[in-house]
Amino acid sequence: MEGSSSMLDAEAVADLVLLDPLTEESLVQTLQERFRRRDIYTYIGNVVISVNPYQSLPIYTPEKVEEYRNCSFFAVKPHIYAIADDAYRSLRDRDRDQCILITGESGAGKTEASKLVMSYVAAVSSKGEEVNKVKEQLLQSNPVLEAFGNAKTVRNDNSSRFGKYMDIEFDFKGEPLGGVISNYLLEKSRIVRHVKGERNFHIFYQLLAGASPQLLQQLKLRQDCGHYRYLDREGSSLPGMDDAANFHAMQDAMRIIGFSPTEVTELLQVTAVVLKLGNVQLSSSFQASGMEACSISEPQELREICELIGLDPGRLERALCSRTVKARDETVLTTLTVPQGYYGRDALAKNIYSRLFDWLVQRINASIQVKSDKQRKVMGVLDIYGFEIFQDNGFEQFIINYCNEKLQQIFILMTLKEEQEEYVREGIQWTPVEFFDNSIICNLIENSTTGILAMLDEECLRPGVVNEDTFLTKLNQLLATHKHYESKETQNARRVTDASLPPRCFRIHHYAGKVTYNVTGFIEKNNDLLFRDLSQAMWAAQHALLRSLFPEGDPQKVSLKLPPTAGFQFKSSVAMLMKNLYSKNPNYIRCIKPNDTKSAMVFTPELVLAQVRYLGLLENVRVRRAGYAFRQLYGPFLQRYKMLNAQTWPRWDRGDREGTEVLLAGLQFPAEELAFGHTKIFIRSPRTLFDLERRRQERVAELATLIQKMFRGWRCRTQYQLMRKSQILISAWFRGHRQKNRYKQMKRSALILQAYARGWKARKTYRKYFRSSASTCLANFIYQRLVQKYLVGLAKNLPPLSVTDRTWPPAPYRFLDNTNQELKNIFYHWKCKKYRDQLSASRRAQLQARLCASELFKDKKTLYPKSLQQPFRGDYLGLKQNPKYQKLHAVAKDKLVMADSVRKVNRASGKTVPRLLLLTTEHLVLADPKAAQPKNVLSLSDIRGVSVTRFSDGFLALHLKEISTVGAKGDFLLVSDHLIELVTRLYQTFEATTGQALPLHITDRFSTRFPKGDVSITVVESPKASTNGPVCKKKGSNKMEVLVY
Ligand SMILES: Nc1ncnc2c1ncn2[C@@H]1O[C@H](COP(=O)(O)OP(=O)(O)O)[C@@H](O)[C@H]1O
Ligand SMILES: [Mg+2]
Repeated sequence: MEGSSSMLDAEAVADLVLLDPLTEESLVQTLQERFRRRDIYTYIGNVVISVNPYQSLPIYTPEKVEEYRNCSFFAVKPHIYAIADDAYRSLRDRDRDQCILITGESGAGKTEASKLVMSYVAAVSSKGEEVNKVKEQLLQSNPVLEAFGNAKTVRNDNSSRFGKYMDIEFDFKGEPLGGVISNYLLEKSRIVRHVKGERNFHIFYQLLAGASPQLLQQLKLRQDCGHYRYLDREGSSLPGMDDAANFHAMQDAMRIIGFSPTEVTELLQVTAVVLKLGNVQLSSSFQASGMEACSISEPQELREICELIGLDPGRLERALCSRTVKARDETVLTTLTVPQGYYGRDALAKNIYSRLFDWLVQRINASIQVKSDKQRKVMGVLDIYGFEIFQDNGFEQFIINYCNEKLQQIFILMTLKEEQEEYVREGIQWTPVEFFDNSIICNLIENSTTGILAMLDEECLRPGVVNEDTFLTKLNQLLATHKHYESKETQNARRVTDASLPPRCFRIHHYAGKVTYNVTGFIEKNNDLLFRDLSQAMWAAQHALLRSLFPEGDPQKVSLKLPPTAGFQFKSSVAMLMKNLYSKNPNYIRCIKPNDTKSAMVFTPELVLAQVRYLGLLENVRVRRAGYAFRQLYGPFLQRYKMLNAQTWPRWDRGDREGTEVLLAGLQFPAEELAFGHTKIFIRSPRTLFDLERRRQERVAELATLIQKMFRGWRCRTQYQLMRKSQILISAWFRGHRQKNRYKQMKRSALILQAYARGWKARKTYRKYFRSSASTCLANFIYQRLVQKYLVGLAKNLPPLSVTDRTWPPAPYRFLDNTNQELKNIFYHWKCKKYRDQLSASRRAQLQARLCASELFKDKKTLYPKSLQQPFRGDYLGLKQNPKYQKLHAVAKDKLVMADSVRKVNRASGKTVPRLLLLTTEHLVLADPKAAQPKNVLSLSDIRGVSVTRFSDGFLALHLKEISTVGAKGDFLLVSDHLIELVTRLYQTFEATTGQALPLHITDRFSTRFPKGDVSITVVESPKASTNGPVCKKKGSNKMEVLVY
């Protein structure tokens, strides 16, 4: 084999060539372990062993097809697709015809395998309308053949009861063109008999279950399976198998393949005839001669058959119940006994069916055959029974096992041949290896003179008494000394006894084991006779298809030559098959059934061991290992193992072979373990290979660690470098930034320093040009200029001289603010003085009086604001001008201050009397107005004080000192219309005369001294007092109320 890691799992090697130790047990164990892991496929070199999983596994998906497509055979897990792909590619690319040989016992999965191969090839070959049609036809041949050729057996619900070989033909591009199917050995005995629990061929059940009532009527059938004796009464339907649906699928398939409706009808009619034949009942009757003869007991079924095939019922009845015997030149009609009649009937049914099956195959071939005669490549798929060892083995087993023996022979020859050729090609010395060559067994069976088959034929053709005993005796005589032949007699002759070998039996040591065959039925089955009357009757029918199945029934073609025996036919078809297979490159699929119960994932080692034996798997491995277990092209080998040698690792520049030699030299394997071919290295034992693989794995682990280490180092380094670069960049930017800021700061400082320095320098330079107090001088000068300018401006802009105008221009500079304010005040004072200076003496006195009035009364007496309108006239009486007041004028003389008329309040009644009042610089005089005679003359120094009210009235109390002369009369209460002027002048005069301030009371309540005692006066605001003056009311002796307004 060629290496790959998945192959080299020592516990469950994917290739049994590498099995070590190689024993039956280890082989079965490996298969079991792989089966447990759901690896149902295992290799022996390029042979695939397939263990039936009895469950659908997800390994046949389109993705899997893609996976195996064009991949290297050993690079992927063992799979049937791998072998199919290998075969297909070898066919397409290397122009080698292929055959795929699928063997195994019934139920082992052969037919499934063949279908998988076909579907894989269909999937990977190119697509196109024409190609797809061909593929479809090829694939659709399966349901048709399965319907007619498959049946339920105890081992397999869908067991093929015929061997099938199909050649699929391709053009040079690998596109399928068509195919040819060959069939072998249909198990026709099943038509008339089958073991309980099994069924007849599927088609009968399908027909009854799936056909429409019209079709059934047309075929004169009843839907009831139980009605037909050839079918099983019980268990006609199968769980998991839908007969009706399969019938429709089969019909569709026939349509796709190209069957015409007539052909389909005819086919079904013949099928119906077979079914109905089983219901033809014979009964015995006695003839005139007294001989017992058979006759049809119930003619109905017979009549219907004849209607179906267009035949005279009498003719068929005759053929079924009698037989024409030719003796010399006479023909004699002899009647048959009932068993003979039944034998004939069953033989007819079997013959019709098997010939119908042959026709079916031919018909399919006609459709799928390649029309053009382009050059073709062929892939053959052989699905044939495997080796069979039953309790009781008959003719069929003998034939089948013979076929398997031949296949084994092919296998041995081909494998060895190939092996040998490879060694020659590679220039390696071929050392013959022990293995079992089975040609001696093949010879035992097929030798044309002494072979068992030949002897069987001889017995069949020999005139005289012929039966199985004579046949066995003959065998015993001839083969007594044959190593692989045994019977009771030969044993006896050799004085060996084996209780398991019964009489009427012989035993053959096949390559796969010993099989004991019972000779019963050998002659009959080999002859496979059909009475001529029956074939002639069939030929006579009008039914075209049926008629064509019995060409020998044509009376014109009567020949006395016996037809070839079954054994002979089989031998020649096997020979043809072998020839065919020899011309092709073989691919093997060995199918194994893991259990007898069709259960998923159950593995019965004993059962598998038996199959391993008769599939000759161990033998297979041995042959494959005849020389070297392992070979591989130098290139891939070196590639895989070069890490095992320091010289070849990591790179080898010279040739692959040289490299391999250097590599292996370093590993020091024993010389006989290795051989160097022209293109490949050969390793003799699996152990060496495993050793190599183990070392590789260890080394790979080391290398992986190394790679990891380097990678991690590299990753860290690059990361570090990156970080470092970033860090440098960041710090560069930061430093730059910081430095820039610092520089800016320094530049600013430098500029300031420079400015100072330059200033200082300039000052120093220019100092000599100035006196030291120049700046003060300059400043003073500037100040002076400013002040000058200000003052001049001010002089030009003086405000008007009016006393009431207080405007003044604002200071132009702040430093002049105070000055300005000062000037403003000075100017104002000056303005006032000037105003005062130009006033006359009287005006001045008046103003002084006014000022005094203001000081005395402002905000104290409500009369004051009203009095402002009235000028102080002083003399209201006109003393000088009026002669009436002559006397009074004399009193006053030049000292008159004020003269006015007042009212004097009577101190007793409160009523008022008019009086004239004169105020001089020394006296206050009250006079009678009529007489103008002074009544009271008061010296100013007698006045103690004056009281007035707060209100706007002219009431006043004149308090006198007690000690004075007039004082004895008490205080005077007066009412004046010019109260403010009067009190003001009195105040001024008093002050001027006495040098003291006159006490003035502005109050609501005060007391006066009257001659009769003190009176307290209360001023009351009252509307009763008119504008004329206050009203005084005496209240009791010492209270007086003054009502003012
Ligand atoms: N590869 C497979 N995967 C799943 N089931 C399988 C496989 N091969 C066979 N079988 C099952 O086993 C049954 C018998 O297989 P079949 O091919 O008819 O056996 P054979 O032709 O060898 O008698 C099938 O009907 C199917 O159920
Ligand atoms: Mg099959």
